[in-house]
Amino acid sequence: MRKLWGGAFGRLPSERAAAFGQSIESDLTFWEQDVRGSIAHARMLGSTGIISAEESANLVKGLEQILSEGPDMLPRDVEDIHAAVELRLGEIVGDVAGKLHTARSRNDQVATDARLWLRDQIELLESEIKQWQAAILKQANAHQATILPGTTHQQHAQPISLSYHLMAYFWAFQRHGMRLAHLKQMTNASPLGSAALAGTPFPIDREQTSQDLGFDGPMPSALDATSDRSYVMDALHLCSLIMLDLSRFANEVVLWTTPEFGFLKLPDHLTTGSSIMPQKRNPDMAELIRGRTGIVVGNWVSLATTMKGLVMGYNRDTQDDKPPLFASVELTLDSLAIASEMMADADFQADRMKVSLHADFSTATDLADYLATNGMPFRQAHEIVGQVVRGCIERNIGLEDLTEQTLSEINPDIPVEALGVLSPEGSVARKESYGGTGPKAVEKQIALATELWNLDGFPRPYPF
Ligand code: ARG
Repeated sequence: MRKLWGGAFGRLPSERAAAFGQSIESDLTFWEQDVRGSIAHARMLGSTGIISAEESANLVKGLEQILSEGPDMLPRDVEDIHAAVELRLGEIVGDVAGKLHTARSRNDQVATDARLWLRDQIELLESEIKQWQAAILKQANAHQATILPGTTHQQHAQPISLSYHLMAYFWAFQRHGMRLAHLKQMTNASPLGSAALAGTPFPIDREQTSQDLGFDGPMPSALDATSDRSYVMDALHLCSLIMLDLSRFANEVVLWTTPEFGFLKLPDHLTTGSSIMPQKRNPDMAELIRGRTGIVVGNWVSLATTMKGLVMGYNRDTQDDKPPLFASVELTLDSLAIASEMMADADFQADRMKVSLHADFSTATDLADYLATNGMPFRQAHEIVGQVVRGCIERNIGLEDLTEQTLSEINPDIPVEALGVLSPEGSVARKESYGGTGPKAVEKQIALATELWNLDGFPRPYPF
C-alpha cells in the first residue's frame, strides 16, 4: 500500500495492520470535496507567496484535471482519499505535487471534506423534506371531508378528518427543516489551515480558503477544529429524528393496509408480492423504513460511544465517524423519497374509515360538551355520559343508534336535542378552535402550511 509517510519507520505496518486502517473505500464518497478543498488550499498557497504563482497554478490545474476525470482514475492501493489525490496529482503535475501539503494536515483536511460533504447533503435533505410536505399537502387538500377515528392510546378517541391527521406530519417535518438550518450553522465553518492541531508557521490566509469554499468563516481554534465531531453527532441525531417520524407514518401504512383496517390501498408499484402466496400485497417499503430507523438510531449511538472520553486533539478513532454519517444520510434521503411516493400515491379508503366509526362511542365527548355548554359542570356531564355509554353497551347499540325512547330510559334528564350532537361529521364540524379538526380550522392550517412551504427554507409557524 502506498503511503504519505514512513521516513522514520524501520519497519512498515503489516499488511493486516495497513488494511485495518484503510478508509479509501468509504472516503471515495467525498472524493470531490477533498479535491475542492485542495484547490482552495493550493490557490491560497500561491496568493500568500508561500509557493510561487506558477507552482500554485500547476497544482490547481492538476487538481481540476482530477475533478474532470472523476474518481475512477484515483489509486486504491492507498490508506485514504488524501493519499489517493496527492499521488494522482503527482502523476499529473510531477514533483510540485509534494508542495500541496505545505501548511496543512490530513486532520484539518478530513474535517473540511466532511463538513463540505454534509453541507451539500443538507440541501438534498431540505428538498426531500419539501417534496414530502408537498405530498402531504396534496392528500390533505383532497381529504378535508374524509373522516376517521382519531386515536389516543391507539384506541378510538374522537372523530377527526384525514386531512387533519396528515397535516400533523407536515408540522413535524417543518420542525425538522428548522433543525436542518441549525445543523447548517454547526457544519458550515472552516477547519482548513488548522494543520495537525497547533496551526502553522506559514503565513496562511484562512479567511481566503474559508470564503473560497463558501464557509461562514474559519474556526477560531485549530485544536477544536481538528477534533470536533459534534456536527456529525448533530447530523446523526437529526437523521434519527426524521426516521423516527417516518417510522410512525410507516407503521400507520402497515396497519392501515391490513384487512382489519382497510383504510389504505397502496398502488402495485409500491408493494411487493410473496414467492409462495399469490394473493399477497406486502407493504415492504413501509416495513423497511420502520426497520431501518433502527440502523440510523444505532449510528448515533455508535459515534457517541466512539467520541466518549477522547482526549482533545485528533484521534484516529474519529475516522469511523464517516461510515455511519454517510449511511444515515443516505438512508434518510432514500426513506424520505419513498415515503413521499407512498403518501402521494396512497389510495385512502374513506368508506372503510366511515364504517369503523360506527358504534365506537367516539362522540361521547361531544355529548358531555353539549351538556356542559348548557351549564352543567363538565365533571358531572362526564359522569352522566359514562352512564349513557354503559346503557348503550347493555343494549348492544352505539350512541348514534339512540332514540328519544332509549335515551329517556337511560337518563330522562338529558334533553332530546342532545341526540343531534352524536354524528361523527357534526363532531368534526364543531371543533373550530385554533389547531382543531374543524373544517375551517383545517383550511386555515393548510393555508398557513402552504404559505410557509412556498417560502425558502422552513420558517417557524409562529408568530407569522
Ligand atoms: N482517514 C483519516 C480520518 O478519517 C484521515 C486523517 C488521518 N490523520 C492521521 N493523523 N492519521 O480520520
